[in-house]
Amino acid sequence: MDSLFAFLIGYLSGSIPFGLLLAKAAGKGDIRTIGSGNIGATNVLRTGSKGLAAGTLLLDLLKGLAPVLIARALFGEEGALPAGAFGPVPLAALGAVLGHCFPVWLKFKGGKGVATNAGVAFGIGWPVGLAYALVWLGLLASVRISSVAGMGAVLAAVLAAALLGYDRFLPVLAVIAVLVIWLHRANIARLKAGTEPKVGSKK
Ligand code: G3P
Repeated sequence: MDSLFAFLIGYLSGSIPFGLLLAKAAGKGDIRTIGSGNIGATNVLRTGSKGLAAGTLLLDLLKGLAPVLIARALFGEEGALPAGAFGPVPLAALGAVLGHCFPVWLKFKGGKGVATNAGVAFGIGWPVGLAYALVWLGLLASVRISSVAGMGAVLAAVLAAALLGYDRFLPVLAVIAVLVIWLHRANIARLKAGTEPKVGSKK
């Protein structure tokens, strides 16, 4: 029951489509009709507004971080189930990413989960968050392709959890990594074709 409750808190938090809301509020129209059609910060940047993109990034990150911290506060570090991979804290994390990727409010067509999973990573433990951020920012600075940076970061979180003793989050982080990479299948096709845009490009 605790796990279901935590999952729902995560899902509700994650399902708030900040990119869509901010772009609409700023008069940029429906972000789903611009660029890649994604509701995340990378695509919001294609509206030409760095401020909106930064706001989307921050809020999408916070909606992943908040439910994990709330679940930790409500149910303790191990959760109500015995140190389980499917205890309240891991399920709050999973719920947040699923909420972002499949929001009920948008007929289950949401984003790709990279920023929300960054918040999840920091919520799980700062070393996991730090590994995520370093790989994400490092790839963004070097390769300058958002999808490559995002996919690298989600995989880094799995590796960091395995190496740094966050074992009970491994199943959830692995499921999230598979999901995020699957959601990037159009990006992967563009990468193979050499047509994936660099960060900041309007396409
Ligand atoms: O986080 C999403 C990013 O990895 C790719 O976004 O708009 O280029 O598909 P986009």
